[in-house]
Amino acid sequence: MQKVRKAIIPAAGYGTRFLPETKAIAKEMLPIVDKPTIQFIVEEAHKAGIEEICVVTGRGKRSIEDHFDSAPELEADLANKGKDAMLEAVQSSNDSNLYFIRQNHMRGLGDAVLTAKDFIGDEPFVVLLGDDLMEDQVPLTKQLIDRYNETGESTLAVMRVPHEETNKYGVINPAQEVSDGLFEVKNFVEKPKPEDAPSNLAIIGRYLLTPQIFDALEQTPYGKGNELQLTDAIDLLNKTQHVYAHEFKGDRFDVGYKFGLIRTNIEFGLRHPDVKDELRDYVLQLAEDIKANKR
Ligand code: G1P
Repeated sequence: MQKVRKAIIPAAGYGTRFLPETKAIAKEMLPIVDKPTIQFIVEEAHKAGIEEICVVTGRGKRSIEDHFDSAPELEADLANKGKDAMLEAVQSSNDSNLYFIRQNHMRGLGDAVLTAKDFIGDEPFVVLLGDDLMEDQVPLTKQLIDRYNETGESTLAVMRVPHEETNKYGVINPAQEVSDGLFEVKNFVEKPKPEDAPSNLAIIGRYLLTPQIFDALEQTPYGKGNELQLTDAIDLLNKTQHVYAHEFKGDRFDVGYKFGLIRTNIEFGLRHPDVKDELRDYVLQLAEDIKANKR
């Protein structure tokens, strides 16, 4: 089996849900306590053994490149002042073997993946979307790679969502569960209305794909929202080789919308050594005040 070494992180979107914050700042740089969301994604890829990552960016995303670059003046200053923990935090995002491709048009997720075709070449690879942070004992990307090592086929991560939310996701029409949590799929549908959804198993932004997806993308017509939909190309690929769905049973933090970002900051803050005690006291007091109708 070919080793899975490469990843694509699409990061060209405007982040309209967070305007005006995202007018000049990349949404991937929005912080969870003190770390940008995209760094969690890069760390997940590294924990899964990924060696090279291509970030597909666009206008206004230069801060992502700066974040993963070294910062010599800042590092020298922190070293001089003996601020070792901060120095380590700053250096933790250097040298992540990241490559950047800039997309000068936005024609959908499928198009962003297609942009990285030459970077990937003829190997299996993973795609990680930045809107979800995933937590489990084994990183989700590693779970997908383990599945690939068993089957040699493409595999997407899915999760059960409330039925009324199927119109926010790609949704699978499962055929049969071939082993625990691994489904063969009849077809894939992008953002179906709840009444049309074949299941509530939603694609959650982690994909392991064979390179044949690029042929499928090139043959796929523009779909929903007049965008080239990755889900549509996956549906086409599934007609010539299996595309499995792997059910994720860990915790998912959706940071792609306002409440999700705030909730994730609270959850991660409650574990962060710098703020956890203060935040816990604050949350407890807040809950009491709310119950007493003081807010
Ligand atoms: C994209 C995909 C969708 C998937 C979702 C997961 O949609 O098109 O199939 O379920 O990511 O986050 P977006 O959220 O970019 O609209």
